[in-house]
Formats: sequence, structure tokens, C-alpha cells
Amino acid sequence: MKYTQNKYAARTPNFSVSYQYPVCFTKDLFNHSNETLIQTIAPLDTKSPQKIFIFIDFNVEISNPGLKKKIREYFNKYSSRIELSSSPVILPGGESIKNSWDYVHEVSTKISDFHLDRHSFVMAIGGGAVLDLVGFAAAITHRGLKLVRIPTTTLSQNDGGVGVKTGINDYGQKNFSGTYTPPFAVINDFLFLKTLPFEHFIGGVAEAYKVAMIKEKPFFDFLIKNTEKLKSRDQEAIEKTVYQCALIHLDHIENGGDPFEFGSARPLDFGHWSAHKIESLSAYSIGHGQAVSIGIALDSFYAWKKELLSKDEFQQLITGLLSSGLPVWSEYLEMSDNEGDLEILEGLERFREHLGGQLTFTMPNGIGRKIELHEMDVGIVEDGIIYLKNIKA
Ligand SMILES: NC(=O)c1ccc[n+]([C@@H]2O[C@H](COP(=O)([O-])OP(=O)(O)OC[C@H]3O[C@@H](n4cnc5c(N)ncnc54)[C@H](O)[C@@H]3O)[C@@H](O)[C@H]2O)c1
Ligand SMILES: [Zn+2]
Repeated sequence: MKYTQNKYAARTPNFSVSYQYPVCFTKDLFNHSNETLIQTIAPLDTKSPQKIFIFIDFNVEISNPGLKKKIREYFNKYSSRIELSSSPVILPGGESIKNSWDYVHEVSTKISDFHLDRHSFVMAIGGGAVLDLVGFAAAITHRGLKLVRIPTTTLSQNDGGVGVKTGINDYGQKNFSGTYTPPFAVINDFLFLKTLPFEHFIGGVAEAYKVAMIKEKPFFDFLIKNTEKLKSRDQEAIEKTVYQCALIHLDHIENGGDPFEFGSARPLDFGHWSAHKIESLSAYSIGHGQAVSIGIALDSFYAWKKELLSKDEFQQLITGLLSSGLPVWSEYLEMSDNEGDLEILEGLERFREHLGGQLTFTMPNGIGRKIELHEMDVGIVEDGIIYLKNIKA
């Protein structure tokens, strides 16, 4: 193609880079007889020990006494193949860690102090917030170190931790600064789910409803059938939920045709335009999973009113969410600005800005199928807020 009108013809480099990373599911990852980790990052023919720097979410550490000791023993057993660069560093858990650059610098300072290079590994053990932050720091330091994610919440195991995005919040906006950087590997250890407070245990189930609503009816039926089990923390039910939800996300990344989200559509963000706004209006006191539950309830009301879902399908979703212990309404939906406009509606413009391009919402079109809409009828959203409030009451 000619881009210049002089004798210096434009040259258009054209290449592609292929990515692959294993997402493993296990229990008791650092048990010395569990080879998932060692085989993933240091196969038998590894010439010299792989250098690894570990960051751990504070709440994971305190609720798993002995974790650091277990890690040390694991590394001792495989010392010819893996090596700890230093003793693991503990980072604060939860969304607040993503609200400034301070901890990005803490991670990059450690990478610098301990002379890690692009062949070294950074391992992050924690909830989605710690994974996003450490992943972001690892992605921009030396233009990218190898990241091993060990997600420890339901939501990070079945959604955030298995994907290709990193980021922190900036300028009051969710994930304003971030990258698309696939990890080196992800290892989900189901035993970590046992120490989660209920809110974070069930939060990830909202993301499971999200993908089921737009992608897989049998999975929706499974979730509806297992609401009581999920609410009572049945281990098998949550493992199946996490596994299936993670597979659907991975299938989308692998086969959806847009892993780095260059287009305007972002199906996996169904319900997220309001969810992100609710999170920031609540100063992140409402967890991502709970906000997503409210967001998909609101968008599903919209879909019902646009005759994309039947009333029965909408009711099934609401009953499923509520009886699993997830919310469908929050007072932040009703918050107004100085002009008396609903704050939540500002989430629409922020959402468009964040995605770039044309405003695009993914909505369910019958359970298990999706459709893209490019405008939102604000009156229906306002009706939905009142409707959901009355359900709750
Ligand atoms: N990168 C992505 O593609 C992507 C996708 C979805 C969500 N996210 C992000 O993930 C974050 C939400 O992640 P989350 O739901 O995991 O919440 P979180 O990281 O805030 O963790 C929730 C709480 O649980 C604690 N915790 C974590 N594991 C624990 C364990 N095993 N036992 C006891 N306590 C534990 C944490 O310290 C925190 O206090 C949000 O910032 C969201 O934007 C990212
Ligand atoms: Zn989400």
C-alpha cells in the first residue's frame, strides 16, 4: 500500500505473535507431592534454576498460616529447578491496592532491587485486585516479565485471573491504566476458596451467571439448580462453577476473534457498564462480583422490556441470583448529581470511553445467546432501578 507521495515508499511490517499459556486446576498447590507448578514453570530439562519472585495478598497469608513455610519447603525440594529470589513480599489485599501507583512502584522496586530480568518469573498469589496490580507492574517493567498467576478468589479463578488483562484504577475510573498481557501460566488451587469470606466466595458466581446468560444455557440451568449448594459453599458445586466459567472465558479469548479487544464489542462486559459505576460510587465498598450481579439484573430487566428475554427468563435469573446470596439492587443506583441526574447514567459514557469506538452493549437474546445494542433507552433503565428496588423490599 502507498502512504507517501514521494520516492520513499512506505514499508508496512506485518507479523503476528502467537500466545499460549496453561490454565491449570489443582488442590494444595504447594504440597511437596503436587507437581503442577514445577512442571508448568520448570520442566525436567530446565538447565539452571528459574528465578521467581513471589507477591502474596495479605488476606491470603493471614488466612493460610504456614503458607510461606510451605512455599519455602516446596522450593527447597525442587531447588535444582526453581529458586526464590527473596522471601515472598506481602501486599495489601482488595481494591484499594489498585487505586494508586504506589504499589506498582513497590513491585517494580523489588524487581529492580533483586535484579530480575525478562527471563525471571513474577508470581502473584491473591485476589483479582492483587493479580491485576502485580500483572500490570510485571508487564511494564523491563517491558514485561513472565507472570504466573495463582488466583485465590472465586472471581479471580473463574474470570479475572485467567484472562489477558492487567490494570489499576486511575482518574477515578476502573482499570484506566493497564495492558493486554497474557500471563505465562495460571494455576487455580480450589483449596484457597475455603478461607474466603462469603461475599468473596459468592461474588464470582455473578460472573458465572454473566457468561451463562449470554453464552451457555445448560450452564445457566446448572447454576439455577445449584443455588442452595452454592450458597452453602458446597465444594463440588463451586469447583464445577469455577471450572465451567473459566473454560467459557478462555474459549472466548481463544476463539472469539478479538482477544485484545480492538473492536467496540465486549461481550464479557455484559452488565459491567453499571457495575463499574456502582463500584466507584461506593468507593469500592461493594465488591466487583456483587456489582456485576446488580449490573446483569439491571441489563436483564432492559432485555425483558425490549422483548429479548421473556418475563419468566428474567425472573429465573433474579431468583437464581438472590437465592445464591447475591444482590440485585443497591442504593447507589438511585444516587443523583447536583443537577438531579442519576449518577449511574454517567457510567454509560465512561463505558463507551473505556471501550473506545461506538457505544456497544452486549445483552442476552434468550438465555444462552447474545445480541449487541448501540443505544440505551434511559427511561427503561430508570424503570429497572425502581423495579429491582421493589423486588428487594
Ligand atoms: N483483569 C481482568 O480481566 C479482570 C476481570 C474481572 C475482574 N478483575 C478485577 O478483579 C478485582 C476483583 O477481584 P476479586 O473479586 O478477586 O476481589 P479482591 O481481589 O478485591 O479480593 C477480595 C478480598 O478477598 C481477600 N482474599 C483473596 N483471596 C483470599 C482467600 N483465599 N482467603 C481469604 N481472603 C482472600 C482479598 O485480600 C480481598 O480482601 C477487581 O479489581 C476487578 O476489576 C479483573
Ligand atoms: Zn467482571
